[in-house]
Amino acid sequence: MQKDLSNYRKSYEKSALMEDSISDNPLQLFQTWFYEVEKSDSVDEPNAMTVSTLGLDGFPKSRVVLLKKYTHEGFVFYTNYNSEKGLAIAENPKICISFFWSNLERQIIIKGTAEKLAKNLSDGYFESRPDGSKLGALVSDQSSVIESRTVLEAKLSQLEKEYGGKEIERPEHWGGYLVRPVSIEFWQGRPNRLHDRIRYTLTDDFDWKMERLAP
Ligand SMILES: Cc1cc2nc3c(=O)[nH]c(=O)nc-3n(C[C@H](O)[C@H](O)[C@H](O)COP(=O)(O)O)c2cc1C
Repeated sequence: MQKDLSNYRKSYEKSALMEDSISDNPLQLFQTWFYEVEKSDSVDEPNAMTVSTLGLDGFPKSRVVLLKKYTHEGFVFYTNYNSEKGLAIAENPKICISFFWSNLERQIIIKGTAEKLAKNLSDGYFESRPDGSKLGALVSDQSSVIESRTVLEAKLSQLEKEYGGKEIERPEHWGGYLVRPVSIEFWQGRPNRLHDRIRYTLTDDFDWKMERLAP
């Protein structure tokens, strides 16, 4: 089986990223880009991001999760702390997050350190979820090998009976991570492969250094 994709080519023409028209603070620029992607209404899930961890087996692994909040402190997502990514983060909290918004010809790559979110914040978010999602978090021993889908569905219907409208508390093994960025790189596609890349790096005195990178 083979397929040659060497003719797949696209010229990126939609925008530019120039030092004199962007903020000194990458979180501010993240916010501007996020607003723009929302406003464009052209990306199905703008908050879908790729999270890469270094696994216990020594291999990097990437998977998509949903960004649920961003603040001046960093980026928040929720997951199972015992999942493959959770175990990887426990061993090595240095992770990478990336966004690709193809319709805007933009990519953002964030390196940072993940830490468990304060329990009350995870509780608050868990509480806001529909009951079905809450039970889903209880049912799924995320990333473990399971015998069949039937086992999962049986477990769910048993829990539905058990809880039957009662309050569902957040399980300890499920919660948020806050990723505190140390470097944020913005990529804007440009014609002739001369793309704009601006990288902000956190300095020792907690300022941001801005640099342009060759495409
Ligand atoms: C669009 C999309 C959104 C997802 N959102 C989440 C999420 O917010 N949290 C999560 O744990 N998994 C989410 N997943 C599933 C993950 O990609 C992954 O399968 C799961 O977290 C297990 O990953 P792991 O075994 O590497 O830990 C999402 C998948 C997709 C495609």
